[in-house]
Amino acid sequence: MMPSKVVLLAIILRCGGIRVDPPEEIKIIDSGHLGHLEMTWTPPASLIHMQECPIRYQLEYYNTYRQSWTIIKTIHRTYSDQFDLMKDVQVRVYTLLSGPCTNNTWIRSTNYTEVVQNPPSTGLQDSGVESFGCVFHNMEKTICMWKKSSKSPTSSQLYLYYWYTELEKTEECPDYITKNGVRRGCNFTEKPLPDFTDVNFCVNGSSPEGPLKPTYMSIQIQNYVKPARSDKPHLQTLKGAPLKLHWMKPHGKIPGRCLEYEVEHTRVDPDGNHELQRIPTMLTNHMVPPAGNNERNCFKVRSKLNKYCAMGSFWSAWSHTTCH
Ligand SMILES: *[C@@H]1O[C@H](CO)[C@@H](O)[C@H](O)[C@H]1NC(C)=O
Ligand SMILES: *[C@@H]1O[C@H](CO)[C@@H](O)[C@H](O)[C@H]1NC(C)=O
Repeated sequence: MMPSKVVLLAIILRCGGIRVDPPEEIKIIDSGHLGHLEMTWTPPASLIHMQECPIRYQLEYYNTYRQSWTIIKTIHRTYSDQFDLMKDVQVRVYTLLSGPCTNNTWIRSTNYTEVVQNPPSTGLQDSGVESFGCVFHNMEKTICMWKKSSKSPTSSQLYLYYWYTELEKTEECPDYITKNGVRRGCNFTEKPLPDFTDVNFCVNGSSPEGPLKPTYMSIQIQNYVKPARSDKPHLQTLKGAPLKLHWMKPHGKIPGRCLEYEVEHTRVDPDGNHELQRIPTMLTNHMVPPAGNNERNCFKVRSKLNKYCAMGSFWSAWSHTTCH
């Protein structure tokens, strides 16, 4: 730390007292896009007429989804990203100065300007929905589900809103899923959501006692795929030869190269002892040494997207069982 302070001091003296001040003011602009916020700031007054030396900014904000600080260096005075509106939004900006004023090294302002925005305190205590989650079934339709809070009034009504960049404004769920008259989920079959795009969701609600606490979520649906169940695997058996199991990828548009599988092999000996083994594989076949006499071998498979195609995935349901 010390040497850089010394350098800075030397430069201030040499450059006739140029001080690098932090930006004047930071604003957080919420256009109602469910957590997509724009941060803007103004240059420090002391540098506003600075012609000969380039100015940049170092933006730091706490990313509530990644749970870490994001640091951006930019010449612009604005930046947008996704925030969880139910958590504090914390943004800091430093000024950076270079050119002849600083002997061509980048000097950062000693201080930063900061803004912290607390979540809105509206909404009945603990009334927000729980376990919100979406599943992109076989890459064909997205269904999002949630659980109503047990602490929310019985006569409350729930709403789901969503937004992504191509939409001008938030839209309400096209097709609610209800159970016993309570909204439990939303079906996007009729209005498919885009993949590789942040899709922001908000589930909020109203009740005679007041509004419910909103719940926010931002996801990219390609990371929430659940492949369809595979057809029953096929077993090829030749006396004395290994058992050869093979199966087809699930029907639908998930590319075969995106799938990985798990085979569950159950071996039952004549005494009725079970031995269960789960074998991960990228292939659509599996070989097992020849079966012993009176031994029963059963197989089923399931699939999910591999890490080359998605950051996450759900396992499909197990196929039906094939036995020998
Ligand atoms: C400016 O920096 C250069 C090298 O980075 C150095 O050689 C030179 O002495 C510096 N000039 C002054 C006035 O500090
Ligand atoms: C729920 O959120 C949407 C989108 O932000 C908003 O338009 C609506 O007024 C909210 N409803 C309640 C009951 O808070």
